Amino acid sequence: MRMYDIILKKRNGESLSKEEISYFVREYTEGSIPDYQASALLMAIYFQKMNKEETVYLTEAMMKSGEIINLSSINGIKVDKHSTGGVGDKTTIALGPIVAACGVPVAKMSGRGLGHTGGTIDKLEAIPGFSVEMSQATFINNVNRIKLAVAGQTGNLVPADKNLYALRDVTATVDNISLIASSIMSKKLASGADAILLDVKTGDGAFMKEIDESFLLAKEMVDIGNNMNKDTIAVVTDMNQPLGYAIGNSLEVKEAIRLLKGEGPEDLKALCHFLGAYMLLLANKVNTESEGIQMVQQVIESGKAFEMLIKFIEQQGGDTAYVEDLSSLPQAEEILILKSEKKGYIHKIQADTVGLSALILGAGRDTKDSDIDLSVGIVLNKKVGDYVETDDILAYIHCNDIKKGEVSINQLREAYTIEENPLNVRPLIFGVVD
Ligand code: URA
Repeated sequence: MRMYDIILKKRNGESLSKEEISYFVREYTEGSIPDYQASALLMAIYFQKMNKEETVYLTEAMMKSGEIINLSSINGIKVDKHSTGGVGDKTTIALGPIVAACGVPVAKMSGRGLGHTGGTIDKLEAIPGFSVEMSQATFINNVNRIKLAVAGQTGNLVPADKNLYALRDVTATVDNISLIASSIMSKKLASGADAILLDVKTGDGAFMKEIDESFLLAKEMVDIGNNMNKDTIAVVTDMNQPLGYAIGNSLEVKEAIRLLKGEGPEDLKALCHFLGAYMLLLANKVNTESEGIQMVQQVIESGKAFEMLIKFIEQQGGDTAYVEDLSSLPQAEEILILKSEKKGYIHKIQADTVGLSALILGAGRDTKDSDIDLSVGIVLNKKVGDYVETDDILAYIHCNDIKKGEVSINQLREAYTIEENPLNVRPLIFGVVD
């Protein structure tokens, strides 16, 4: 088989066979295919697309490129939840304890973030002492003991994706449905869960900007999961403005913990209740969405979800005093204020621009080796649909470097559109694909 022929075939719009796709993934991962040929194939896939069969073959080949985790020694149905990525998305931090408190095992492998804020692991590391480094045996024991553990992704989980994703990032080939679906699903399938819940974000702050495209991505991933005998459901949710009010690692942890105490922003609450309900449905713990929502609300109101958080933090070496007293978590030295320059209704808080403003402060990584400042970030004071007077506070900028704070605030100002007329705020949840 020759890589040249595979590129030519895809360039001409033909479908690739399972053998051709496996050859490409295997040889590229082993370093036998150079980046320039892999880039050419990615660009051909980008323009000519892949059909469903090809996407399944690609997912399977990527999944098999490294270790496949076996979680069968954990009792019960393990449900994994994945978000396609958004600004201020701290749902995983809240959902782990919620779902575990409902009696469903949560064995979560998570990554570090690249981009506007850290990933779940970076955020949890804002709690002093908390660690995700553990052997697979400890990970499994921990889940069997308290029903919840979060571990860092092992280096050998889907190595094909590490190389391909880095290449896609620099060749403008990220936003292709088959490439995104196979990248995400190969990692989910290799992580060993029995069922998968996908939160597919749609809007300015998401990979998929248009609702129709987001549903197509959701359907593609659900089909892949079901094809591989894993119960998979996707929920398409809004990312046209940040989720909740906090953006930045320590700030997001605080918001997620407040949610577990029954407080917290309405949109974050509604989304966690909904996603939690679908995780319980996938685990056969409840029979309907409303039963699931009720169970989620009960474990929050009874304090069981918060108790689970404490056990979880303790189990992973974190100091729970910081969780009991949120003001002791990492705090930035300065807080700058962004004020409204006019009165009216907020029509837009462009999520990707807010993400960029947080990145400028140091909340995220420019490259995978950049350091991250856990204490900095942005706290919104108003959301889309709110009315503001001139000089009302739109957002707080938590920074450790005034210069960066000033650059960030100028960027953040651009995120807002304020108009005289009120508006109908678009829904948070667009639909479920199963
Ligand atoms: N997240 C992933 O893991 N892969 C993609 O391609 C896009 C988002």
